[in-house]
Amino acid sequence: MFSRIVRPSHAVMLFRHNFSTSSKVSKDMKVAVLGAAGGIGQPLSLLLKQLPLISHLSLYDIAHTPGVAADLSHIETRPKVEGFLGPEELDRCLDGAQVVLIPAGVPRKPGMTRDDLFNTNAGIVRDLTDAVSRMCPNAMLGIITNPVNSTVPIASEVLKKRGVYDPRRVFGVTTLDVVRSNSFIAEAKGLDVSKINVPVIGGHSGVTIIPLISQTTPPVSFPKGEREKLSERIQNAGTEVVEAKAGAGSATLSMAYAAAEFCRSLIDALNGRDQVVQCAFVRSEETEASYFATPLLLGKNGVERNLGMGKLIDFEMDLLKAAMPELQDNIKKGEDFVKKTLTD
Ligand SMILES: NC(=O)c1ccc[n+]([C@@H]2O[C@H](COP(=O)([O-])OP(=O)(O)OC[C@H]3O[C@@H](n4cnc5c(N)ncnc54)[C@H](O)[C@@H]3O)[C@@H](O)[C@H]2O)c1
Repeated sequence: MFSRIVRPSHAVMLFRHNFSTSSKVSKDMKVAVLGAAGGIGQPLSLLLKQLPLISHLSLYDIAHTPGVAADLSHIETRPKVEGFLGPEELDRCLDGAQVVLIPAGVPRKPGMTRDDLFNTNAGIVRDLTDAVSRMCPNAMLGIITNPVNSTVPIASEVLKKRGVYDPRRVFGVTTLDVVRSNSFIAEAKGLDVSKINVPVIGGHSGVTIIPLISQTTPPVSFPKGEREKLSERIQNAGTEVVEAKAGAGSATLSMAYAAAEFCRSLIDALNGRDQVVQCAFVRSEETEASYFATPLLLGKNGVERNLGMGKLIDFEMDLLKAAMPELQDNIKKGEDFVKKTLTD
C-alpha cells in the first residue's frame, strides 16, 4: 500500500512513499478496529494487516470477529491479529491500544441521509467511546461511523464526562472526501492522481463537505459551471455509491482505503515523523462551528497545529455559509444526546 502525506495547499509538497521505507518498524503499536467484521471493517483490517508499522491488530465486533481474525492471522505480515466478540470482550480488545478506529454501526440505504443513521449509531459510538475512556484514554480515536458531524461530538462529550478528553486526539475520519476529490479532479484534468491534493474542509455530509478546489496542488482551474458541478459531485459522492449499491450499503472499499491512509498518517506522526498533514473533523476554533475539518499538522500528541482553511474564493465562501446551519445542528444534536443519555 502506498501512502500520501497530505499537506495544505499553502505549504504544499506532496509525495507518496512505500510504507516499508517510512518510520521504524520495531516499536510496539497496537491498533484496535471496532466494527471489524463489517463492510468497512474487514477490508480496513486487511489493509492494516499489511502495515509493518503495526505490531498488534485488535479486532472487535458483535458478530463474526473470530472468523475474520483467524483468516487475517494467516497472512505472513507483522501485525499479530486477535479477534474479540461481544461486549464482554471489548475491554480486552482495547487494553493498551494506541490507535482506535470505529467503523461500527449501520450504513445508509438509498434515500437515506447520514443523519437518518443517528438513532442507531449514536448509542453505539457513545458506548464504544465509554470503553475507550476506561481502557485506553490516551489513544488516538478515529471515528468513521456516520453521521460523523454528530458522532465526533458524541465521542468528545463522553470523554469529557469521564474526565479524559484531549481534543487533539479525537478525529472524525473525512479522508474519503479528500480521496474522492483527488480522484475526480485528476480525472477531469487528465493529471497524475498520485500527485494531486485537494484540501476538503467543513463536515462530512452533503452541503457540509467543502472541497477547496481553488487550493488544489498543483493548481487547476475550471470554468465556473464545471467547478460547481465538481463540487456538487464531491458533496454527493457517498450517495453515488449508496445508489449504485442499491440497498447493499454505502462506500466500504474506498472508505477502508481512506481510513488505512489516515491510520498510517497517525502512526507516522506518533512515531515522530515530521510534516504529516491530514484533513480531519476535529474540535476547532476556525469558524463558529465547534467542530470543523481543516488540514491538520499531526504530531506525537495528535493535532499539533490546525493549519486552517487558507484563503477561500467567493464560491467557497458561499459553500461555507451554506454548510454552517446544518453543521451546527448536527453538532448540537450529538452533544444533547450524550447529555440526555450518558449515565454516571
Ligand atoms: N466516515 C466516512 O467517510 C464513512 C464512509 C462510509 C461509511 N461510513 C459509515 O461507517 C459505518 C459502517 O459502515 P459499514 O458499511 O461497514 O456497515 P456494516 O453494517 O457493513 O458494518 C458495521 C459493523 O458494525 C458492527 N456493529 C454494530 N453494532 C456494533 C457494536 N455495538 N459494537 C461493535 N460493532 C458493532 C456490525 O456487526 C457490523 O459488522 C456506517 O455508519 C457508515 O455510514 C463512514
